[in-house]
Amino acid sequence: MEFSIKQGSSEKQRSACVVVGVYANGKLSPAALTLDRAANHHLSDVIAHGDLDGKLASTLLLHHVPGIAAERVLLVGLGKASDFSAQQFIDVVRACLNAIHKTASKDAALFLTDLTVKGRDLTWKIKQCVLLAAESSFRCDQLKSKPAEAVALRKLEIVSADKPDSQASLALNQASAIASGMSLTKTLGNLPGNICTPTYLADQAKSMAKAHKLKVTILEEKDMEKLGMHSLLSVSHGSRQPAKLITLEYQGGYKKQKPVVLVGKGITFDSGGISLKPGAEMDEMKYDMCGAASVLGTMQAIAEMKLKLNVIVIIPSSENMPDGAASKPGDIVKSMSGQTIEIMNTDAEGRLVLCDALTYAARFEPETVIDIATLTGACIIALGHVASGLFSNEDKLAKELADAGDYAHDRAWHMPLWDDYQQQLDSNFADMQNIGGRAGGSITAACFLARFTKEYRWAHLDIAGTAWKSGKDKGATGRPVPLLSQFLIDRAAAK
Ligand code: BES
Ligand code: MN
Ligand code: ZN
Repeated sequence: MEFSIKQGSSEKQRSACVVVGVYANGKLSPAALTLDRAANHHLSDVIAHGDLDGKLASTLLLHHVPGIAAERVLLVGLGKASDFSAQQFIDVVRACLNAIHKTASKDAALFLTDLTVKGRDLTWKIKQCVLLAAESSFRCDQLKSKPAEAVALRKLEIVSADKPDSQASLALNQASAIASGMSLTKTLGNLPGNICTPTYLADQAKSMAKAHKLKVTILEEKDMEKLGMHSLLSVSHGSRQPAKLITLEYQGGYKKQKPVVLVGKGITFDSGGISLKPGAEMDEMKYDMCGAASVLGTMQAIAEMKLKLNVIVIIPSSENMPDGAASKPGDIVKSMSGQTIEIMNTDAEGRLVLCDALTYAARFEPETVIDIATLTGACIIALGHVASGLFSNEDKLAKELADAGDYAHDRAWHMPLWDDYQQQLDSNFADMQNIGGRAGGSITAACFLARFTKEYRWAHLDIAGTAWKSGKDKGATGRPVPLLSQFLIDRAAAK
């Protein structure tokens, strides 16, 4: 979809569909008022007849409105002006897009960004419109023999009474880049395990490197062997697919500037290994590479934005499968850090690949390292599907990430990482074991990772509950690309 912002007046738009808001009790927004005047009070008549009462996110489509240039007018309820905040704005825009997609409109003009939204500026409103429009038109049909029906809408104009300034165009460009990154993340996430293998992810990284002039390095199993990554390699033992360690380097900042390193869990299928998972919904474990997909999507977004920051992406990628060569419960392996690990459960494989990738990350002398992983079912029990779990060895970094998530409406909740939990990882035979029992499962997983990240500022995002949706709407969400992109945008601005 094509996006643009411009200055304009609602009655003059030669658009297939003009969208204006109506507050509770039929009070017209300024753009609706302009339309109403040009249309000789047609809108207020319709409202007076009781067909739209301004209830939040309700819509009414009108054809042939007299005296105006557009083919259609979409009225959308805004609820009470005093209650109109971020969530309400998002609900309204979503409802409008759904209603537009039910028509044959090829283009639409939104008059919604002039509405006052509590605590949010124009930049935010523009970004949300773009991201919501991209989300509403996303299709995942490459593997269907006939493509799904695409939406008719080709072009979305965001229209305002004021002339768009450079901040507004920047917001539009950033949002388009984030939307394209999210689309990549979703497409990769939805691919099945027989297509999206570690080798496939490595090929994706190579083509991204080509398109955006990034440096790409793929370590093979023999390279990882030399580095002593026996924890990571223990996960791929049971698989016919070779593990890969993928690194992409983007240099948007000056040469000596320390990079932000993003590490994404790339388990392309998690069967559990010898500690086999139950069969129900096991297909969803193709999504166990959503951390990897999200760091690739974020990389694409910031490369498209040409962000002035150095960013490195590291993806430890493997399948987790059972066979005669697979790791067994009780096996002890030595990680790249030198610390030994007793593998009590082969299904706690994410931390086993991440710990070696996190040790490897230190060689880039990072300013900050953030890992993103579909790490624990326990995180879903703790936070549901609303917030990602956020852990950090520095409260300031946690706050920056949480704030970026709040702003981007891709929220994360700060969880404890206290030493009190560490004892749950004690092992009689190795430096640690890879599970900490049922209590606080997402926290003990993070505590495990914390043992490998002492040298630098680090945060961990557990996206088990937020990376994809189950059921009828099954599909990757593209999260936390908005959070990560906003965090990096803020970082670049602070430099
Ligand atoms: N990939 C899973 C976590 C997961 C499970 C994410 C379900 C989303 C939905 C991870 O590798 C895993 O299996 N974790 C185990 C850890 C346990 C064995 C300590 C879990 O959460 O059950
Ligand atoms: Mn697992
Ligand atoms: Zn997993």
